[in-house]
Amino acid sequence: MHTEEEKKHLLEALDSLQRELVVISPEFYILAANEYTKQSYQGNLIGEICYEKYYNRKHPCPACPVNKGTDGGQAGKWQENLEDLNFKDGVICYPVFSGDKCDYLLRLDFELSGAGRLEKKLQRSNAFLHNLLLSSVDAVIAADKDGNILIFNDAAYEILDYTTEEALNSLDIRDLYLEGGARDVMKRLRSQEYGGSGKLKAYQVELVSKHGERIPVSLNASIIYEDSAEVATIGFFHDLRETQKMEQELEDTRMQLVQADKMAALGKLAAGVAHQINNPLGGIGLFAQLLLEEHDLSEEAKKDVQRILEDTQRCSDTVKELLEFAKQSAYKSTPQDINKALDRTLFLLEKQALFQNVEVEKDLESDLPFVPCDLQQMSHVFMNLVLNAIQALQGEGKLKVRSSTCGQEKVKIEFKDSGPGIPEYVLPNIFLPFYTTKDAGEGTGLGLSVAYRIVENHGGKISAYNLEEGGACFVVELPYDGNAQGGD
Ligand SMILES: Nc1ncnc2c1ncn2[C@@H]1O[C@H](COP(=O)(O)OP(=O)(O)O)[C@@H](O)[C@H]1O
Ligand SMILES: [Mg+2]
Repeated sequence: MHTEEEKKHLLEALDSLQRELVVISPEFYILAANEYTKQSYQGNLIGEICYEKYYNRKHPCPACPVNKGTDGGQAGKWQENLEDLNFKDGVICYPVFSGDKCDYLLRLDFELSGAGRLEKKLQRSNAFLHNLLLSSVDAVIAADKDGNILIFNDAAYEILDYTTEEALNSLDIRDLYLEGGARDVMKRLRSQEYGGSGKLKAYQVELVSKHGERIPVSLNASIIYEDSAEVATIGFFHDLRETQKMEQELEDTRMQLVQADKMAALGKLAAGVAHQINNPLGGIGLFAQLLLEEHDLSEEAKKDVQRILEDTQRCSDTVKELLEFAKQSAYKSTPQDINKALDRTLFLLEKQALFQNVEVEKDLESDLPFVPCDLQQMSHVFMNLVLNAIQALQGEGKLKVRSSTCGQEKVKIEFKDSGPGIPEYVLPNIFLPFYTTKDAGEGTGLGLSVAYRIVENHGGKISAYNLEEGGACFVVELPYDGNAQGGD
């Protein structure tokens, strides 16, 4: 126990202390304060609630040491964000007990030492930098010079599928690159040529995700030195997949536009040429025919004129195809039984010598819905596809024709042949007008482009791919109106 004399000295000492000393109840009321505090707050703080008075808050502060003091009986030290709150450097709270019960708390502010203050600032800016790296939109990965991962942020996880824990514990930076990729990056980092020694700017490289997927990225990286020795590297990886997809789509659209333009121009040109040639061609045919009928020709001469007639016919066929190609969208559309059209096409063609030993297998869906189309034009498409297949088979092999319903109100017709298939370099060109791999006289290169245009005019799709077992497959998909009925 203190004597009165002692108490008096103690009170005087507390009042002359140039720091804030306050007694707070467990209910957050300010019970007493030393003179220094009273002066700082112009005396009017006794009986107030501490969090309202000091911090202008409606509720106790999140990390309030009053709670800690009352709960565990430990002195709570509180330094959090005090600068933000325009307060002193730190606060310590000491609980005062009578028995088990905490009666009140002594709240004393203190000043951080110069070094402490600096350390605090550093800690804070370190934490800020760390947060900055972790929340970066680009993947940030740092590794020491043995390849151990030091930093692996959320964006890195999103791109590469390794969790931060996995990366820090068991990943080697080299695992993230293709064979030799990490070495190549290091070589570039150390060279002067790619953004200065120790730096690498916008280098495009592929990373490998946990599941083996290759991810194209743009990498900005630098070497971290300590006393001019390399200690680590840090890289910022920007995922290029989205950009590349957009670029590809843009390029595709551009190609389609160019293609559409070219087709339209070619269509006009073809129509012009076809009309110009058609009349004289008719003349040649007619006069050759007359020559054959009206004159007594030698067998030799007859053969020659016959040849003229045959070639004229071939020219005329080409002209017909050209006109078909140039024809815009004028067609007569009525609901048609596609199976019937396929049967008829095959029946007509089977008579041709080309068929020889070609075995045709038909697999036609019995309840195929009717498809609104121009029967003549659609038969032309089927004819072209079957002819191409037969030509590819060179008289020997199998042709499968299949019809079925598929997807959203679509009829699918497939032509599969057991021929040599379409070479990779040919495949992108087959629907272009005048593209042919056949000898002059055998192919005009117009068949598929005409087919393409007809199917497109019907709102459908035509495509081709190679079968795994060899041979080519052409697929025509035509939309049908679910309620269409009737036939030709
Ligand atoms: N079933 C097929 N198998 C292999 N190649 C094909 C097949 N169908 C078409 N092709 C290729 O597509 C090209 C273009 O066909 P097409 O436009 O009909 O013109 P053409 O038959 O006059 O050559 C052909 O020259 C050929 O190279
Ligand atoms: Mg053809």
